[in-house]
Amino acid sequence: MTSISRASSSGEPDATRDAARPRRPVEVGRQSTGAPANSRDLDGGTGAGPGVRAPGGDLLRLTNQPSAGGSVEIEAAVHTPSPSDMTGSRRIAWHLLRRFNRRDTLVRQRPMEGIVNMADVRERARRVLPRAVFDAIDGGATDEVTLRENRAAFHRIWLRPRPLADIGHRDISTTVLGQRISMPLMLDPCALARVCHPGGEVAVARAAGDAGTIYAVASSSGHPLDQIVEAATQPLWYQLYMPSDREALEPLLDRIECAGFYALCVTIDSAVLHKRERDLHNHLTLPLRLSGRTMLAAASRPRWSFGYLLGGLSRGQRIEIGGGFRAVEAISRTVKEQAPVTFADVQWLRKHWKGKLVLKGVMRADECRQILDLGVDGIVISNHGGRVLDGVHATIDVLPEVVEAVEGRAEVFIDGGIRRGTDVVKALALGARACLIGRPYLFGLAVGGQAGVSRVLEILRAEIEQTMALAGCVTVADIDSSLVHVSGDRQRSPG
Ligand SMILES: Cc1cc2nc3c(=O)[nH]c(=O)nc-3n(C[C@H](O)[C@H](O)[C@H](O)COP(=O)(O)O)c2cc1C
Repeated sequence: MTSISRASSSGEPDATRDAARPRRPVEVGRQSTGAPANSRDLDGGTGAGPGVRAPGGDLLRLTNQPSAGGSVEIEAAVHTPSPSDMTGSRRIAWHLLRRFNRRDTLVRQRPMEGIVNMADVRERARRVLPRAVFDAIDGGATDEVTLRENRAAFHRIWLRPRPLADIGHRDISTTVLGQRISMPLMLDPCALARVCHPGGEVAVARAAGDAGTIYAVASSSGHPLDQIVEAATQPLWYQLYMPSDREALEPLLDRIECAGFYALCVTIDSAVLHKRERDLHNHLTLPLRLSGRTMLAAASRPRWSFGYLLGGLSRGQRIEIGGGFRAVEAISRTVKEQAPVTFADVQWLRKHWKGKLVLKGVMRADECRQILDLGVDGIVISNHGGRVLDGVHATIDVLPEVVEAVEGRAEVFIDGGIRRGTDVVKALALGARACLIGRPYLFGLAVGGQAGVSRVLEILRAEIEQTMALAGCVTVADIDSSLVHVSGDRQRSPG
């Protein structure tokens, strides 16, 4: 669907800015959120209400457009917010936070100083974000067994280096669905980006572009699609949650195609509401409104609060720290209205979406043949970072059997717990084409905006390069199964 303008020296297409460019012009100032009217975001906000002026300054209006299949669009007239837009307690909060924020200069000027790995980014983010927001990103479902296991499983895989290999001219780039990226690492779709930092998805798209890799934009993004596409210099994927209103789907696909997204990434693992107990304990509700509890949290994290107040967040992206479970229940209701993604849906999508089609959330081998028969181009082995169904295997444990079942008919990607360059190399050795990360870049975003995401990618790139070199690999093609040994007693699951 998207044209690729330049060929690399290897003869493979480069992932260029042009590839991410809209084929047809997108109406500026009247851009779809990309999310269908009743779409839920399990991990983020729901759509804004009609005619909302967000405290941060965006004028948002929801319009129901019969011509677009009844889908809801947001008109956003962004203007520079100022305290004169605010009234009462919000105005006082603005002035107080500005004062606090000025004192926070050390963190602001060198937000990424001293950060050398993903654990550091997470720890710094914990200090920057209000607890409920940090937990909403960091946490997993129920007992968080899968969340921990995603990480632990990498520690059962051992590298077997080839120290005598000639590692003269190394190249860690690879191709993903026909597009060259600078390293085998991409950015997962994640809601809440704009809650982490006002730069939100625009900052992430810029950082991904600078790093020469692909960003999968979540359907519940905090910025209008045209702004994200405009910021991107590399191809983007669009992550889709299947709406229950299938009528809305065709016009939505059309808009995604018009906006210039290269691949459609359909999340299949979130048919019903998750149970995240950290969120329940924190009384996390969506959307966030100013309340006593919120103000308290804001006072403890002035930099975040200042950015949040000034950030022009639409109400849809706000999450409520106070106020009990009401909004969670509201989301729960919305989620219950969603139909799970079925094989028939995938077949329908394959018929109507001409670009690359990726399924995110595959966790077993025996469904692969049917998926592949439907013409899917890529599979993301994912358990949603342990955020949806607890007690499922670590993704890296499932990788070998899925790769075996796929038999090279599609590209296999993996996410979940990837925090080191060694993790990426291990995943590639077990058959993955590339890896994706979620939380690490959100934490980088929270700490340093675009620069924070860039720093995260820079650290991981250096680790991948170093691991490959020390393991004796010149290119990703040199990474094969002989490079790893899997220890532990995990039985291969049937299928
Ligand atoms: C805060 C947050 C929001 C997320 N939102 C989405 C989403 O909207 N759609 C989706 O398919 N996955 C979403 N995910 C899951 C990620 O795409 C990805 O599967 C997961 O984060 C990978 O694990 P990792 O965080 O350990 O890297 C989200 C994850 C987080 C942490």
